[in-house]
Amino acid sequence: ESYSLPLWFYSYSRKRILENTLSLTMLFPVRLTGTKYGCGTGGCGACTVMISRYNPTIKRISHHAANACLIPICSLYGAAVTTIEGIGSTKTRIHPVQERIAKCHGTQCGFCTPGMVMSIYTLLRNHPEPSLEQLTDALGGNLCRCTGYRPIIDACKTFWLVTICLMTPVTLSLSLLFKISLKLFSEEEFLPLDPTQELIFPPELMIMAEKQPQRTRIFGGDRMTWISPTTLTALLEAKFKYPQAPVVMGNTSVGPEMKLKGVFHPVIISPDGIEELNFANCSHNELTLGAGLSLTQVKYILGEVIQNLPEEKTRMYRALLKHLRTLAGSQIRNMASLGGHIVSRHLDSDLNPLLAVGNCTLNLLSKKGKRQVPLNEEFLRRCPSADLKPEEILISVKIPHSRKWEFVSGFRQAQRQQNALAVVNSGMRVFFGEGGDIIRELSISYGGVGPTTVCAKNSCRKLIGRPWNEEMLDVACRLVLDEVTLPGSAPGGRVEFKRTLIVSFLFKFYLEVLQILKRMDPVRSPGLADKYESALEDLHSGHHCSTLKYENVDSKNLPQDPIGQPIMHLSGIKHATGEAIYCDDMPTVDRELFLSFVTSSRAHAKIVSIDLSEALSLPGVVDIVTEEHLRGVNSFCILSEPEKLLRTEEVSCVGQLVCAVIAESEVQAKQAAKRVKVVYQDLQPLILTIEEAIQHNSFFEPERKLEYGNVDEAFKVVDHILEGEIHIGGQEHFYMETQSMLVVPKGEDQEIDVYVSTQFPKYIQDIVASTLKLPANKVMCHVKRVGGAFGGKTYKTGIMAAITAFAANKHGRAVRCILERGEDMLITGGRHPYLGKYKAGFMNDGRILALDMQHYSNGGASLDESLLVIEMGLLKMENAYKFPNLRCRAWACRTNFPSNTALRGFGFPQAGLITESCITEVAARCGLAPEKVRMINMYKEIDQTPYKQEINAKNLIQCWKECMDMSSYSLRKAAVEKFNSENYWKKKGLAVVPLKFPVGLGSVAAGQAAALVHIYLDGSVLVTHGGIEMGQGVHTKMIQVVSRELRMPISNIHLRGTSTETVPNTNISGGSVVADLNGLAVKDACQTLLKRLEPIISKNPQGTWKDWAQAAFDESISLSATGYFRGYESNMSWETGEGHPFEYFVYGAACSEVEIDCLTGAHKNIRTDVVMDVGCSINPALDIGQIEGAFIQGMGLYTIEELHYSPQGVLYTRGPNQYKIPAICDIPTELHISLLPPSQSSNTLYSSKGLGESGIFLGCSMFFAIHDAVNAARQERGLFGPLKLNSPLTPEKIRMACEDKFTKMIPKDKPGSYVPWNVPI
Ligand SMILES: Cc1cc2nc3c(=O)[nH]c(=O)nc-3n(C[C@H](O)[C@H](O)[C@H](O)COP(=O)(O)OP(=O)(O)OC[C@H]3O[C@@H](n4cnc5c(N)ncnc54)[C@H](O)[C@@H]3O)c2cc1C
Ligand code: FES
Ligand code: FES
Repeated sequence: ESYSLPLWFYSYSRKRILENTLSLTMLFPVRLTGTKYGCGTGGCGACTVMISRYNPTIKRISHHAANACLIPICSLYGAAVTTIEGIGSTKTRIHPVQERIAKCHGTQCGFCTPGMVMSIYTLLRNHPEPSLEQLTDALGGNLCRCTGYRPIIDACKTFWLVTICLMTPVTLSLSLLFKISLKLFSEEEFLPLDPTQELIFPPELMIMAEKQPQRTRIFGGDRMTWISPTTLTALLEAKFKYPQAPVVMGNTSVGPEMKLKGVFHPVIISPDGIEELNFANCSHNELTLGAGLSLTQVKYILGEVIQNLPEEKTRMYRALLKHLRTLAGSQIRNMASLGGHIVSRHLDSDLNPLLAVGNCTLNLLSKKGKRQVPLNEEFLRRCPSADLKPEEILISVKIPHSRKWEFVSGFRQAQRQQNALAVVNSGMRVFFGEGGDIIRELSISYGGVGPTTVCAKNSCRKLIGRPWNEEMLDVACRLVLDEVTLPGSAPGGRVEFKRTLIVSFLFKFYLEVLQILKRMDPVRSPGLADKYESALEDLHSGHHCSTLKYENVDSKNLPQDPIGQPIMHLSGIKHATGEAIYCDDMPTVDRELFLSFVTSSRAHAKIVSIDLSEALSLPGVVDIVTEEHLRGVNSFCILSEPEKLLRTEEVSCVGQLVCAVIAESEVQAKQAAKRVKVVYQDLQPLILTIEEAIQHNSFFEPERKLEYGNVDEAFKVVDHILEGEIHIGGQEHFYMETQSMLVVPKGEDQEIDVYVSTQFPKYIQDIVASTLKLPANKVMCHVKRVGGAFGGKTYKTGIMAAITAFAANKHGRAVRCILERGEDMLITGGRHPYLGKYKAGFMNDGRILALDMQHYSNGGASLDESLLVIEMGLLKMENAYKFPNLRCRAWACRTNFPSNTALRGFGFPQAGLITESCITEVAARCGLAPEKVRMINMYKEIDQTPYKQEINAKNLIQCWKECMDMSSYSLRKAAVEKFNSENYWKKKGLAVVPLKFPVGLGSVAAGQAAALVHIYLDGSVLVTHGGIEMGQGVHTKMIQVVSRELRMPISNIHLRGTSTETVPNTNISGGSVVADLNGLAVKDACQTLLKRLEPIISKNPQGTWKDWAQAAFDESISLSATGYFRGYESNMSWETGEGHPFEYFVYGAACSEVEIDCLTGAHKNIRTDVVMDVGCSINPALDIGQIEGAFIQGMGLYTIEELHYSPQGVLYTRGPNQYKIPAICDIPTELHISLLPPSQSSNTLYSSKGLGESGIFLGCSMFFAIHDAVNAARQERGLFGPLKLNSPLTPEKIRMACEDKFTKMIPKDKPGSYVPWNVPI
């Protein structure tokens, strides 16, 4: 009995009936703009919504957070979907979660914010008084690229009832001494959380659930049929009828396959509310779990079972629970089912290795009857005899309780500790039989090392009968390494790391069991030395604790003066309510088209032919733009080298734009793009690495060089000389909003409007005008806000905007182009990988007298900003040190990768790391502490940079000293050493690095800025300027400037966005100076206005702005003024190597402490202290936000963010599931940020300093802390030679550097004997 019906569900109190939504498309066609789309694969959390259902049997409503991008619309029948719009808005009432995240400064670009809010909101619906662990767990699946998470946690903590100490004793005493501020928001003004105010569950859905007969629902579409059985019989019937149809439960496995691999299912069966799949039964001997239970439900049930059973029976459940805590994020765990997890048999499944060793049984059912199959290796390998039959359903899984002498453990290591698929995971079980240590049963299985979970069956069999001792361990390791083999070219790479983990996990299990045996029978079991127990302890954990210190506002200022106040981001509330409009949120324009690019799949090849016929014949396809259409306008000069927009003759990297399909809808455009057939013929040479570029002499001209003193002479007098090198990997911008644009032809006078997410509207205007052969005055570029940019939304954005505009102009219709995350990562390039070579001449006391360096950057296939990046790298390379004799040369290599470009820090994070690595090595050679060598070489007071610009380093030294004090460096260093001497397998490291970050653009013209300020007759003010709001809060600061200058409240001032129509010829927004330069222009405009109005104001000092504006109007005084700043005086001559390229220096220092697990390579940041000299902060909340956001991004750069490329130059890491940016689990457990007292020295906007980029470099304090910890491990193992570590210091590099008997034990492949999966870039 079944029926078909139109699909409807509730979305925030409005009933939505979706017609023709019959394919498995996602929730987004509903077009509620608050729910953001960051990746489309469940990995970022930007699309989080709350799903509520009513269960008529238990009469309860359940709520869970889910990733809308993976929810099939058809699965929502009978559910209420609450999106961000449903919980509060500025038009009605904002919700306390929205208010607090905004007022605690938890939003910057705001693109991740609705997802964050929905995760917290859903948690509070379920647990109005959550613990901190629940709060951070709820946010584990939400990524933020801007904030560094601390302010989001602060917002969460306001819901946490237990008061915690926010201040350490040190900062507490400081606050009493210096009247400093420790908080950036006041909790007193927050709305209380009142659960009675929440939206009610739609009664109609409740009645429907109670009354409606349970019948199978069928939604039929043109291409696909969705069948939702509601009884077991109907499910079996459907599966019998459509044996090939997948049984979609959470859709977290089927969904990504359909999306990324193009798998198509004409029929989908999705059971709904079938009781027989959703139960748990705990009997005397076993726990049976329904296959339909979500992983969250499984987690909860296991927690309960563990509470209620004796410990010895629960060892398997404990192991499963441990893995469930880190498996994916909470949204995925809420959606994914146990059955789906088991049946998918992913190679990196966390649960299957455990279940496979646990003698578990799968209960299967089909129309033909019941069957039981063991969950063993045969099942996992899909052996036909052991697998489900196509018509069978997995009903439940039976997990036996552990027995008295049985021990079970699970291990995993991933690139990131949480929400990251394991590199290797493992399940292990041993059974001894009463009282003994002789192995009776042993099962070991691994994930991540083969096409599915692999069991070491033979090894286990051979070990039966052996006692549990070191000899057994040794034999076991060798047997397992023999059985679980990985070829050198295994997919996923990291082969030696994986092999090492295989045995390291075994060793951990050995120790763990040994320890329990000792506890059970201290007399018989030898146990292990205290020192080795550290192998078993978890990495440091603790509650997040942070303190912020900045000087209170000077009381001289007027009461309403907002300068220096921690004012919330202007769009903060709108970010949190989802009302902030980003490019793709703009409503569809009449007859709008969608554009999708076809990109090259070869790194260096001739295009032999392009066949468009099939693509053009598809429904909805309007046109395909190729190079032929662009004849004469297919190139644009970017900086000094012209760059082609589309390629049709030759491609020089994967991801180059070949043509662009324009269709009526996004789906049609994307489908057609896949049907364009391009035939290539590979060309030689293929240059990927810097070494290959050097070999082929493949460089962008010219080479850059900086020289100071006499290096060659100095080398003759030094005590020692060392030579070394370091590789630094690239970095993806990973802005949360992907490249987005909408081009609208106005239909009159060839006018065209370009709405685009860019940092450089003027450039977009130029390139579009040139491509359309129009004067610039016909092309207007508008940017309301950008969902993160970090340097990545300039030149490539321009190329894509030009092609989109060409299509729009050609067809006289609006065209939208929004990149998918994978396309974005493939096409746009990122931070330049670097190779730094150094030769240092130094004295016994650590003074470096001579330094000869070479920087090589991997620039990619076209010039982009590569030369500027190496120039800035050179000018900033000495960081905080005075090297009296210095020579540094730099080359940008031309390779077959998408061109790399600007990314926060612009060359400095790489150049600075090379210098710091050299210093660390000098310290090691001298037998001195690195901080001593840093201090001895640091700039002191007045000095000169290598390009002969004067520098006053007083504040640098102050930052350094304060950082040393604040972090209690000496005390903690001693504590770290003590910890290291007591722990063999865990090590701690501590490092402090100074920062001198020069700010300036190197030329006066590049620093000019303009603004336009209007006063209206009602006294309200509208301000515009050339800067782009991309999360850094520039618009907020500009309003603060107007407020101070015109002495009017902030509420009186408005800012609508940036446009080439209001402020022409703007410079790029970047380089830490956006607020600085535009603020001076805004100030100038305000002062012009004030000067004009002064006579009027002085005539009526008690008047209002309305009175003054009217009076000015009556006297024909203009109420509109432009403001201008011509740029800081700056110059740099590369011929002489001298100049004054920078206006000022930002100083700082950071100290980080880390703990590493020598057996797995995992690390945890225990504590970071940052001290920064920000001059006089205009807005300490925004400035601290920039510092910590950049710090966390830097931490990512130097530790976990790793791009992988194939030997053919194809990027593998194309989304959050492969490329790991820091998540909430990565932030320091303790974070202290302190701003130096205001200093008036610089002649910038109100003596403030730009902070957008500098903090990123401080992330390298983590790199050197890990370096320190690894060094301690190596020294203990007798390895005293120089330690060479490249960046990023991933778990793989950490583990492999902590050499031990296991790293020696593993087989090594001869280089050249295999084709590796990836090439190190
Ligand atoms: C962003 C993200 C992060 C992830 N991180 C992790 C991680 O850290 N660790 C980890 O182990 N996994 C991880 N996963 C994988 C995740 O655990 C699985 O995708 C999930 O468990 C599959 O369950 P599902 O209900 O969504 O399956 P679905 O996609 O609904 O179905 C998967 C398959 O199972 C079959 N199936 C489902 N139920 C039954 C049944 N009752 N009987 C017969 N066949 C059935 C379907 O036919 C289908 O072929 C992650 C996934 C995503 C998207
Ligand atoms: S867009 Fe859904 S998780 Fe990223
Ligand atoms: S504020 Fe979180 S991604 Fe920008």
